[in-house]
Amino acid sequence: MILQRRNRTLRRSAAIRTMVEETVLRPADFIVPMFIIEGENQKEEIPSMPGYYRYTLDLTVEKAKEYYQKGLRSVLLFIKCPDELKDNTGREALNPDGLMQRSIRAIKSAVPELVVMTDVALDPYSSYGHDGIVQDGEIVNDATVEVLAQMAVSHAEAGADFVAPSDMMDGRIGAIREELELAGHTKTGILAYSAKYASCFYGPFRDALDSAPGFGDKKTYQMNPANRIEAIREVLDDVAEGADIVMVKPAIHYLDIIREVKEAVTLPVAAYHVSGEYSMIKAAAANGWLDYRSAVLEATLAIKRAGADLIASYFAPEIMEWI
Ligand code: PBG
Repeated sequence: MILQRRNRTLRRSAAIRTMVEETVLRPADFIVPMFIIEGENQKEEIPSMPGYYRYTLDLTVEKAKEYYQKGLRSVLLFIKCPDELKDNTGREALNPDGLMQRSIRAIKSAVPELVVMTDVALDPYSSYGHDGIVQDGEIVNDATVEVLAQMAVSHAEAGADFVAPSDMMDGRIGAIREELELAGHTKTGILAYSAKYASCFYGPFRDALDSAPGFGDKKTYQMNPANRIEAIREVLDDVAEGADIVMVKPAIHYLDIIREVKEAVTLPVAAYHVSGEYSMIKAAAANGWLDYRSAVLEATLAIKRAGADLIASYFAPEIMEWI
């Protein structure tokens, strides 16, 4: 054959392939989720997330230092609230000496350069396991948003760099921004979980925090997996209300959404490679059905290639060892 061009030319050797590589993972792309528990010097493996742990605050601080030394630049904090502190209004979420607020202070003082992001939603604190306040079997929007805005201010006061509302209530980005401004927290960023789907892939996370909904599901606030255009509407609303970063969640099953969101906004786009997506790869690798490292890197690259500027990932600490 006489061909104009042979596309295999650019795949011929490892050096050439590297030269023309379009997508490259770098340490600062990642946000590492961390699960924090009360107590001292303890770690608990999460049964449905093999290789991932809940740590007490002292060990969390050590991990945070280690992550920063390895090149990671950001963590996203979640706490496991003791059952006796849970109620319907999420009062513990506003406790200035609550586990979240203590954790923010401890990490920021040990590793000031590390970007500390915090989950803002009521589910870990809710006796019903829902992201908002429950009235007559419904998750009420406006009363929840009031608490979320106070929660965000409380995290900002403790030193959080970004608050990350993951609740999917309407109007919460605007309300949080306004309360932060009124409280003088003009440097606190908002990473908005803008297109968060009602996904079965959050199951292992709910095991980690013991935060599964006590009744019903989250479909009246999280998005229907069947919808695409709605994701753009959610994202544009959050942009208009003052989000600094918008996020799509889950990631691997929503690569089309990541791409469309990336094309619709001028803000950085994050994607959350969620717990169930982590556990799937772990389980397949444990059975010898997939090569672990190749699967993790291919999946993570796909998320970035789709358009994610930032990736929240349980694989991040391991990926750091490989890239
Ligand atoms: C809570 C929250 C969830 C996740 C992040 N924040 C669970 C949920 O909405 O039920 C899921 C993260 C994961 O699965 O890795 N609002």
